[in-house]
Amino acid sequence: MPRRRVSNGMALARFRERSPVLGALAIQAVVFGVLYLLRPFAEEAMDAPVPLLWVMLAQGLLAGIVSRGFRFSLPWVVGQVIAPPLLLFALALDLPGWVFPVILLLLVLVFWNVAGNRVPLYLTNRTTAAALLELLPYKTKLHTADLGSGLGGTLLFLARARPEMQFTGLETAPLPFALSWLRGKLGGGGNLDFRFRDIFKEDLGQYDLVYCFLSPVPMARLYDKARTEMKPGSLFISNSFAVPERKPNRIVTVKDGRKTKLLIWKM
Ligand SMILES: C[S@@+](CC[C@H](N)C(=O)[O-])C[C@H]1O[C@@H](n2cnc3c(N)ncnc32)[C@H](O)[C@@H]1O
Repeated sequence: MPRRRVSNGMALARFRERSPVLGALAIQAVVFGVLYLLRPFAEEAMDAPVPLLWVMLAQGLLAGIVSRGFRFSLPWVVGQVIAPPLLLFALALDLPGWVFPVILLLLVLVFWNVAGNRVPLYLTNRTTAAALLELLPYKTKLHTADLGSGLGGTLLFLARARPEMQFTGLETAPLPFALSWLRGKLGGGGNLDFRFRDIFKEDLGQYDLVYCFLSPVPMARLYDKARTEMKPGSLFISNSFAVPERKPNRIVTVKDGRKTKLLIWKM
């Protein structure tokens, strides 16, 4: 029996690893079902209807506790706790019906790579981009890529500072890609392009330096790909996320608020 409990726990942990969005939704659904079944008993005991706000607060609290039990990280747990009361609040505002699907669609278009690759959108800050600029070798015709280029701000900054170099951003989240492409067309020089392309489908051999700011999940696979494809002497730089069992050749600690680490491997 204990062995079965351990293996069930491991199966759930694997499910969480593979698809945290579905895992979080499944927890909310199960908690909703339990509260739905318990509600008549609570109303009988109180001899009054349970206010919807209480139900939503209980839903959030229980979903948060269960999510923590399944070792979801803190931001996920906080999201699980606040989502049900927020939903109630939004419903109370009596917004037109189309608002919710539109918000959901926008979130999906921005956070496209969360469900599959577990890489959300967050941005390299300007202090880190400046530190990265210092790391660009002083040679013309070098080609640098930002793997998962987000809104394109990092590459725009680098491309303006080093007009003699070539810069390419790869991105598959539709909305960030569209925005970065537009920014590149409007404000970038001829040395910058953004491609709607999966980083795992790109030949990294054409780049002298690749930069990425992703998450722990794709790092081992991406590093192996870089090792296989990149030219000897080229640089692979990861903002914050390490590669399991592969020590970087150099670590630069950036003087920003979070003491960002740029991990640098020479291929
Ligand atoms: C944390 S953001 C970093 C954005 C930008 N590089 C920066 O530092 O400001 C990571 C980005 O990688 C993108 N991404 C994740 N997996 C990807 C993949 N397989 N192919 C292309 N883009 C990907 C995500 O959509 C997200 O926009």
